[in-house]
Amino acid sequence: MTSKELISRVRNLKAPSPSVTKLITAVTDPEADNEKILEIIRRDAALCAKLLSLCNRATVGVSSVASIDRAVMYLGHRAVHRLALSIGFGAALAPAVPGYAMNQTELWRHSLHTAFISQLVLEKSNFPDQDASVSYTAGLVHDIGKLVIGQFIDPSQQQTILELLNRDQCELLEAERRIIGVDHAEVGALLLEKWGLPKIIIEAVANHHNPAISPSPQLSTIVHTADLIAHQTGSCPGIASFAVRANEEAVNALGIHESEFEALIISALDAHQLVEEMAAAA
Ligand SMILES: [Fe+2]
Ligand SMILES: [Fe+2]
Repeated sequence: MTSKELISRVRNLKAPSPSVTKLITAVTDPEADNEKILEIIRRDAALCAKLLSLCNRATVGVSSVASIDRAVMYLGHRAVHRLALSIGFGAALAPAVPGYAMNQTELWRHSLHTAFISQLVLEKSNFPDQDASVSYTAGLVHDIGKLVIGQFIDPSQQQTILELLNRDQCELLEAERRIIGVDHAEVGALLLEKWGLPKIIIEAVANHHNPAISPSPQLSTIVHTADLIAHQTGSCPGIASFAVRANEEAVNALGIHESEFEALIISALDAHQLVEEMAAAA
């Protein structure tokens, strides 16, 4: 089956609400100001309610956060944007993915963890001027293709994929292509294109296992590095846990100094607590 056919047959996949798609488009638009972004959040009542509930957890002991403006006052614009984006994809990414042997919220927690690390990697790298929220969004949705492919992997195919990964040292994308005919990066990118996400996010998802490095590193280089760090720091759910290969060239292209890389690992370990809180609340 082609990626398009798989996407047309997938069941129970919850697309983000139109306001979340607008939000992503706004955070990737350098012209969009904070007020415009907040207005998108304010107009989505369900998103607002969940956001305020999460903000109240995040600001325990400070005061009750009763409005989006107060949330911004306590947490800052970017943190509020990122919370809204996380909530927007929670329903899609939280279900179990049996095809990849992932229990409920396992893919969601890995996605949140990779999102946090993506923004940290961006901050430490010499990547051209880019908002951390864009990096965060790409990290959040990088493995979304697994939700689609996961519905079509039966137990015997899962066993064959495991053998390819463990015995033949096959890369995950290669194993997926051999057994299903397509890989989760390609399917994820096509799904996000269908949902109307911006090109920069689609590039990052399409190439997150084979990052686009030259002539200049693209966002996929950031997400690839963040995904590696997520795996190294314990966020490696399901059958794919052994199959993430580092592209050394990608890591070098970001110009992250060795000592800063160690700091990234520590921050990634610290982020587990935050991820657990968000996964529980969203
Ligand atoms: Fe992946
Ligand atoms: Fe991943």
